[in-house]
Amino acid sequence: MKRILSGMQPSGKPHLGNYLGAMRQHVAMQEQGECYYFVANYHALTTVRDGARLKSLTLELVMDYLALGIDPTKTTFFLQSDVPSLTELTWIFSTITPMGLLERAHAWKDAQAKKKKDPTAGLFIYPVLMACDILMYKPNLVPVGKDQKQHVEIARDIASYFNNTYGDTFPMPEPVIHEETAVVPGTDGQKMSKSYGNTIEIFAPADELKKQIFSIKTDSAGVDDPKDPNTCIPFLLLKHFLNKEEGKEAELRLQTGGVGYAELKKNLFEKMLAHFAEARDKRLELEKKKDYCVGVLEEGKRRANALAQATMEEVREKTGLTL
Ligand code: ADP
Ligand code: TRP
Repeated sequence: MKRILSGMQPSGKPHLGNYLGAMRQHVAMQEQGECYYFVANYHALTTVRDGARLKSLTLELVMDYLALGIDPTKTTFFLQSDVPSLTELTWIFSTITPMGLLERAHAWKDAQAKKKKDPTAGLFIYPVLMACDILMYKPNLVPVGKDQKQHVEIARDIASYFNNTYGDTFPMPEPVIHEETAVVPGTDGQKMSKSYGNTIEIFAPADELKKQIFSIKTDSAGVDDPKDPNTCIPFLLLKHFLNKEEGKEAELRLQTGGVGYAELKKNLFEKMLAHFAEARDKRLELEKKKDYCVGVLEEGKRRANALAQATMEEVREKTGLTL
């Protein structure tokens, strides 16, 4: 049975890009193997610097995932910081990771290019921590959005350095990326991202959701003008909620003219409400069951630590830390 692992940072409200690019795959893959999913709160410390806010974002993401269908009887669902030996492994890995490898990481290069003020050491070694939280559990598959591919590759590099230095320990994790949802555009046409303020939030109240959808940028083409399905943002988003046939038909109508942007946006709004109806109800229920959510994490903590402990014993032995 394959072991599947992934994480998500509690850095804001989940949006359509997170859902289509990652969360949906996480839920679906529960049928394909033994899953370990966690809320990456250590990672979020690089951007969220308010304890009360981090706590509430963390609990919210736990509820979002459970509402979307993470099944704690099948999946080990836990908080990253409930496995504190990750920080020990981060130190050990950082002693074998070349600076050059981290200097080439996109997030770091971005911070340099944008002249981010006082970039922290945490941001620099972020990929080492991510390598740890992948390799600690020795997974076969790591389902992520495309922008995380480089991080999984860095984890593979670090696994090789460790294996070459101390003997075979870590199997190579494979990233799983769905090309059709690799980069979901936001309301302004750039990649949808919490940091660009261009998101459509999957659990936003209906009126807010409508506002976000109707804020999608479009050009001045009229209803009768033909439109390009490859660049029309409302269509690119709507397409994910249509089956193949509906998609083809909608594409043809768009190309011949007769479909306006307002109609596309209205369709997207209705499809999203229908698609997430069950999850939205469940999400409201979970709001009233915080103890249940905490209980799920407790059980996840126990199972995740059992694996982590075995890995750490092996690592301490091979590196010579255990006498
Ligand atoms: P954000 O950019 O909004 O901060 P994260 O970096 O927290 O999102 O990403 C969480 C997960 O969602 C990652 O696996 C990432 O690859 C995926 N993801 C985020 N935005 C998109 C997008 N626009 N399209 C596809 N996948 C995305
Ligand atoms: N860095 C990932 C993101 O921003 C979250 C993450 C942390 C992760 N650790 C991971 C994803 C391990 C997959 C595997 O989305």
